[in-house]
Amino acid sequence: MKIKSAEFVMSNQDVAKCPKNNLPEYAFIGRSNVGKSSLINMITNRKSLAKTSGRPGKTQLINHFIINKNWYLVDLPGYGYARVSKTTKKVFQKFITAYFEKRKQLVSAFVLVDIRHQPQPIDLEFMQWLGEHMIPFSIIFTKADKLKPNAIEKHIEDYKNVLLETWEDMPNYFITSSSKKIGQGELLGYIETINQDLQNT
Ligand code: GTP
Ligand code: MG
Repeated sequence: MKIKSAEFVMSNQDVAKCPKNNLPEYAFIGRSNVGKSSLINMITNRKSLAKTSGRPGKTQLINHFIINKNWYLVDLPGYGYARVSKTTKKVFQKFITAYFEKRKQLVSAFVLVDIRHQPQPIDLEFMQWLGEHMIPFSIIFTKADKLKPNAIEKHIEDYKNVLLETWEDMPNYFITSSSKKIGQGELLGYIETINQDLQNT
């Protein structure tokens, strides 16, 4: 898929105020600092469409971006970030949960995990929760530039083994790096295929 346009639409905390039309959307979720906003910029070929930061807790709202005027990418706040206050954390959790429970236009979630880390309980629990709510998702391993190819392979293998303890199949996954532009074609191709299927139904 070629990116012809990518525009910011709106930010809010309330799923009821998200765009009302029925365009398909894809949401990026994961721990703070995992690289959600950077990946949105990378796949859309934009430097600062989504705001990024070296300090975790940058994205605090539900952010809609419209791509090629016919589908949305959604940038969400990170979960499990310890440094925001407990009250903020609760508000985050509430509207993130509401977003996933109520947003009918959501076609698929992408759960981002840092490729350097072993499977973290919070990520596994979130995937479990998505499964229980029948929300389709793929895993995106981020920051692949930080590991050598053989370490990547071993890491994916270890990750798979942990997931297969609870999942019947390994969820669909992608290996990416926003700084080295790895995975852009695969991700966009995947989204394009789903969008086309939706159009044909
Ligand atoms: P929150 O909005 O706080 O939840 O974080 P986020 O998941 O949106 O992360 P963000 O995209 O802001 O990136 C966090 C940090 O990781 C920034 O310093 C990025 O430059 C860095 N980063 C993101 N992607 C990559 C990557 O592919 N490789 C490397 N080396 N660094 C990355
Ligand atoms: Mg962000």
